Amino acid sequence: MIEADTRKKILARGQTEVPWQGEPLLGSIYGEEEIEAAVAAIRDSMPVHKGFGFTCQQILDFEAAFARYVGVKHAIAVNSAGPGLDMAMRYLQLKPGDEVIVPAINFMAAPLAVMGAGGQVVWAEVNPDTLQLDPEDVERRITPRTRAIFPVHMNGLSAPMDPLLEVAARHPHSEHGPIPVIGDAARACGGGYRGEKIGKKGLCTVFSFHTMKNMVTLGEGGMVTTDDDALAAYCRSTRFYGIATEDWGTSNVMTKVQAAVGLVQLAKLDGFIAARRRVAKQRDEMLAGLDGVALPCEPPDCYHSYYLYTCLVCDAWAGDKRDAIMRRMEEEFHVKCLVANPPAYESRRLLREHTAGRRLPRSENIGQRIICLPIHPAMSDADNEYICAAFIACVESFRAHR
Ligand SMILES: Cc1ncc(COP(=O)(O)O)c(C=O)c1O
Repeated sequence: MIEADTRKKILARGQTEVPWQGEPLLGSIYGEEEIEAAVAAIRDSMPVHKGFGFTCQQILDFEAAFARYVGVKHAIAVNSAGPGLDMAMRYLQLKPGDEVIVPAINFMAAPLAVMGAGGQVVWAEVNPDTLQLDPEDVERRITPRTRAIFPVHMNGLSAPMDPLLEVAARHPHSEHGPIPVIGDAARACGGGYRGEKIGKKGLCTVFSFHTMKNMVTLGEGGMVTTDDDALAAYCRSTRFYGIATEDWGTSNVMTKVQAAVGLVQLAKLDGFIAARRRVAKQRDEMLAGLDGVALPCEPPDCYHSYYLYTCLVCDAWAGDKRDAIMRRMEEEFHVKCLVANPPAYESRRLLREHTAGRRLPRSENIGQRIICLPIHPAMSDADNEYICAAFIACVESFRAHR
């Protein structure tokens, strides 16, 4: 952990220099290459008989490169991850009462996709160390109506895909067979699991290239990856009014300009993740031994992409006390921290009503203890030191005055 004297010097620096303000609104790094790619794609579209659509080479190239990167047969570009999650759920053709198991510690997108496809959300607990869907708890919640398991690769780390696939295989559905495992990797592009990239395991995986994500396609964008030919055909068709498969569809296409920029960002992605990891590992050392705070965990079979640097305060500081630490980080040191995420049913009334009466004590406790310190591939050592020194100061002063 950073010594007290060094900490004072680092924090004094923050009086004169503008410190890192909070979780960045651009998750990757943009340079001249992205600008050139965007301009070239616009120039390419200017002939009136060419334009921006429909099936353009840039989208095909981006999809092929992404499929190669993840190691899958198909990658289907969409305009954001949300519609990709909707497609995955609609593909299941859920009937009223059909259940999909999702982690309670979650962003709203995955459970809303279940609801949107006419299914019933079933919350499951997460592992308190990794914050990933807990396979044992999933197994307890499987019923004859379970149609899918829907893990989220939370905050950049992989969900335990093999144990989840084993649970799924042990409980085939009487009509539909093996339960599919579908991954939401919106926050985990570039992460790894058991020697492979996230996005390879399970029926399909959905990625986001939204402005805050590990790679960014002009603010919005997403990708579905799969080895399943029928699902790939369904997604390709559904993203353009379902014409090719005579299914329901709407327009969820990615633009040519986004795809051109996506190709450039994808080539830089491993570098972004390496830079995020460097910040995280240095931070692990600077915060090591800080009493009352558990640092992010990286199981040996995972390669964490550190979309977020997720800490947990101890039980005794859950809720108000965690909030007080966050407030002090912002008011005194001008560093905004995040709570990502409390149980999704706590943040959205629609989800709470949909799953009325279902509460998950372990997840609720975790939601009261999460605190994410800002992280970014372009963060300087000085910014990282400042954030760590500020956090130690807040935690120690809180401990002294409580
Ligand atoms: C876990 C998770 N899933 C899905 C999404 C939706 O992504 P998009 O904004 O690309 O639709 C997000 C976006 O913030 C997310 O964090």
